[in-house]
Amino acid sequence: MILETDIFKTFDKGWPILTAGTKDGFNMMTISWGQMGTLWGKPVVSVFVRESRYTHEFMDKEDYFTLTFVKFQWYHEQLALIGSKSGRDIDKLKETGFTVFERPHGISFTNADLIVVCKKLFKQQMDIESIPEDIRAKFYKDNDPHDMYVGEVVEIISDRYKDRESSNKYKTGEGTGDGSSRWTVCMTKTGVYTAELYFMGAGGAHQWLYEIDKDVFDQAGTFENDDYKTENLIKEKGRLLYEAADEKETQPWQSVADTDYDKLCSWADIMGEKD
Ligand SMILES: Cc1cc2nc3c(=O)[nH]c(=O)nc-3n(C[C@H](O)[C@H](O)[C@H](O)COP(=O)(O)O)c2cc1C
Repeated sequence: MILETDIFKTFDKGWPILTAGTKDGFNMMTISWGQMGTLWGKPVVSVFVRESRYTHEFMDKEDYFTLTFVKFQWYHEQLALIGSKSGRDIDKLKETGFTVFERPHGISFTNADLIVVCKKLFKQQMDIESIPEDIRAKFYKDNDPHDMYVGEVVEIISDRYKDRESSNKYKTGEGTGDGSSRWTVCMTKTGVYTAELYFMGAGGAHQWLYEIDKDVFDQAGTFENDDYKTENLIKEKGRLLYEAADEKETQPWQSVADTDYDKLCSWADIMGEKD
């Protein structure tokens, strides 16, 4: 998965909107504390939500949560509102004027320029007693601890860099329910559309690279309960460029269908060497 970001500013300056729930019932709030990295071999995000937040109820109940990044200079007022008023007291969707963008898992908003969808893996309450005293005094004198929620990143949708000539546009998501299979589609700055399918299991890893068209790029990730639909679309409509495997049972191997595969997919982390 690809995410170009300045990690130390992403939360602190980006003020993402944390949302949990379904179309029939969800809540959102502004956050500025969070982490991104690797845990248990998975790409993860951790967020910190005080028990008193209405959003906390949804974070406990739901299996997925999303982070929606909007342009700060355009939506500063809305971010301040949903970061100071509770969804128990106001209709946040109505007040912000945001439009719901339903993902196969989770809720986001069409106003986003970056969406990160996470599958909840783990929750733990911060042990206030073991926090340095000065921090405890500053943040926890009201005994309203943060719970840490760690989520596996299963989908990234980014328009964030579209104004930069040098950058490509990507969408990525999971192929199966267990998250071991991923797809990524890319529209390069030169208007070439390509895709990567990647499978990682106990037996090893397998990668396929395809050339696709705009139609496949547009459709990727739009299916409800995706369950292989995007993967199958790429396989069915795409032109296979390259395939590689690094599996326990056999020696690593590559199969080149188009010698330009590395130029067409220079954005991808290509397994194996060119023949
Ligand atoms: C910039 C900013 C960052 C915030 N970061 C967090 C955070 O990381 N964790 C948290 O629990 N609350 C955070 N808040 C506070 C919540 O957004 C706020 O309490 C909100 O009203 C909760 O809404 P809810 O009750 O509808 O869930 C932040 C608020 C702002 C304005």
